[in-house]
Amino acid sequence: MCKGMNRTLWHVMTSGLKVQEAMQMKLEGEVKAINPDDAYYLLEAARSVVVVPGYGLAVAQAQHALKELQELLEANDTLVSYAIHPVAGRMPGHMNVLLAEADVSYEQLFEMDDINPRMASFDVAVIIGANDVVNPAAREMAGSPIYGMPVIHADEARNVLVLKRSMATGFAGVENPLFLKPNCSMIFGDAKETLGAIIRQFSD
Ligand code: TAP
Repeated sequence: MCKGMNRTLWHVMTSGLKVQEAMQMKLEGEVKAINPDDAYYLLEAARSVVVVPGYGLAVAQAQHALKELQELLEANDTLVSYAIHPVAGRMPGHMNVLLAEADVSYEQLFEMDDINPRMASFDVAVIIGANDVVNPAAREMAGSPIYGMPVIHADEARNVLVLKRSMATGFAGVENPLFLKPNCSMIFGDAKETLGAIIRQFSD
C-alpha cells in the first residue's frame, strides 16, 4: 500500500493530521449532475471508453452490471479499457478480483502507469465508485495530504462521468477537485442502480 501511494509508513500513519487543513482549501468550479439518460447519449456516441473502478464498485456489487454495459458498448463498436490503480479498493488486487468475478478479460485491464499517458485519447472516462485514486489534488494542490501520491489521470479524458452516491470524500477524507471540472459530470446514486438504468437505455 505504501508503495502504491508513494509514501513511507510514517507518512501514511500521520497524514490524517493534515486532512483538516486540506478540507479547508477552496475548490473552484461547479458540480454538474446529469441523469443516466444523458449518460447513455454520451456513451452511445463514444468510440473509446476507459473505466476506472474503485471501492464503491465493491460496495455496490456492480461488477456484473459493469460487464453487461461493457458488452453493450462493444456491440456498439466502442473500445472499452479498464484503468487499475494499485490501491483502488481496500485490499491488494481488490479490483482485479471483482472484475475477474464478472469475467472481464485480463487483456482489457491496464495498470495506472501504462494507461496514464493515454488518458487524453479516451472519449469518456467512467469512474465507478472511485475517489482518492482519481483525485487530481495529488498532482495540483501542493498542500494536500495526498500531494505526490500517484493517481489515475481520469480528468484528462475528453469527458468524465462519475458514478457515486453523493459528494462525500473517500478513504483519505480529502475533497476531490475533479468533480468540479468542466469536463466532469456526476451521476448520483448507487453504482449498480445507475449502471442498470444506462443498460436499459442501451437495450431499448
Ligand atoms: P475511495 O477513495 O475510498 O472512494 C470510494 C467512493 O465510493 C466513495 O467516495 C463513495 O462515495 C463511493 N461509493 C461507496 N458506495 C457506493 C455505491 N454503492 N455506489 C457508488 N459509489 C459508492 O476509494 P478508491 O478511489 O478506490 O481509493 C481507495 C482508498 O483506500 C485509497 O485512499 C487507498 O489508499 C485506501 N486504501 C487502500 C487499500 C488497498 S491495499 N487497496 C487498503 C487500505 C486503504 P459516496 O459515498 O458518495 O457514494
